[in-house]
Amino acid sequence: MAQDLDRALLQEARSLFKKLPHDFADSERPLAPERVVLGKMLFFDPRWSVDQNVSCSSCHNPALYGSDALTKSIGVRGRRHARNAPSALNIAGDFAANWRGDRKDVEDQAITAAIGALSTGHTDHVAWIAQIKSIGGYLAMFRRAFPDEDDPITPTNLSLAIGAYERTLATPGPFDAYLDGNILALTSQARLGLRTFVDVGCAACHNGAGVGGAIFQKFGAQMDYWLATGSKDIDKGRFDVTKDDADLYVFKVPGLRNVAMTPPYFHDGSVATLPDAVRVMARVQLGRTLADEDVDGIVAFLKSLTGELPKDFSTMPTLPAGGAR
Ligand code: HEC
Ligand code: HEC
Repeated sequence: MAQDLDRALLQEARSLFKKLPHDFADSERPLAPERVVLGKMLFFDPRWSVDQNVSCSSCHNPALYGSDALTKSIGVRGRRHARNAPSALNIAGDFAANWRGDRKDVEDQAITAAIGALSTGHTDHVAWIAQIKSIGGYLAMFRRAFPDEDDPITPTNLSLAIGAYERTLATPGPFDAYLDGNILALTSQARLGLRTFVDVGCAACHNGAGVGGAIFQKFGAQMDYWLATGSKDIDKGRFDVTKDDADLYVFKVPGLRNVAMTPPYFHDGSVATLPDAVRVMARVQLGRTLADEDVDGIVAFLKSLTGELPKDFSTMPTLPAGGAR
């Protein structure tokens, strides 16, 4: 690309996207180190699930960029989830949690995951609290994280600890260096792909720091999505949450950070590869058939969204001693 075109593209990119923040701290929820450490342990510890076999990291696996490489996740007692596991990375920056946005934020998500039929298998908070209390070391950890409370092992505190950990999981990458002004942080193919991504209209939905994660949209703006994805079960999206006809087939526009590392794609994992996911998007959302070279360019751009994994993300924490019952 000629220099002036490159400069114009950078200008435009800066108006549409933003650098990832260093973390997703929230003014009301400071990232106290004691909470982050506890949250990480809870995230990796399978001993508080009903069969002591499944942890958050089973489906949000560090080696797989916080996802699980399955079409649909398999949880406690081998039960299959209705949807594909999104990455747990950068997700704290989204405006709502889950594919259908049925949870407000990562804390709200964690509180329900604690009693998720598949994620822990517990049906009420009393049960997991008892199980955590039976693991000796946790009480002291909760006391350090919530020093003003006598009985700190509560659903709210669990969600604050896990949420604090998730709010540290940001993965800046080459695209952030590019937005900073280092044009060569993106290959020329990736820059052409970025040009195409903006020109064909992808950035109308996928924008901001997450390159998505900021709005709901219908999956099927131009045609029924299952005709392009081959989905067998048709998920009605947010409609099942709100019962409002306007929400039929509406999903959260997912952030595309690390998307090259988290196949398969879409809420049901129906599409196996990134080039095919890009083709589906162009057809279903924009009514366009992209030339192969445009698809390759967009994929090269999307690869520049692969960031560095958070420090120690792949290191299993030392868990509190004491087996569960
Ligand atoms: C059985 C696999 C599994 C386990 C275990 C699991 N998750 Fe998930 N997680 C999923 C799936 C599938 C979704 C998408 C759910 C949906 O959209 O309906 C999800 C969604 C999420 C999201 C929201 C992502 C987004 O796109 O907004 C967060 C955050 C999250 N999980 C964190 C956790 C935490 C914390 C735990 C442990 C308490 C946990 N998960 C346990 C599979 C799992
Ligand atoms: C009208 C809004 C809209 C437009 C335009 C749009 N998308 Fe999407 N995108 C979505 C929604 C909504 C989803 C989630 C669909 C689902 O799985 O239910 C999605 C999902 C994706 C996914 C899958 C992410 C994952 O983790 O599974 C990729 C990749 C993607 N879009 C890329 C693109 C590209 C490339 C373009 C331009 C060719 C584009 N999108 C245009 C709304 C949009």
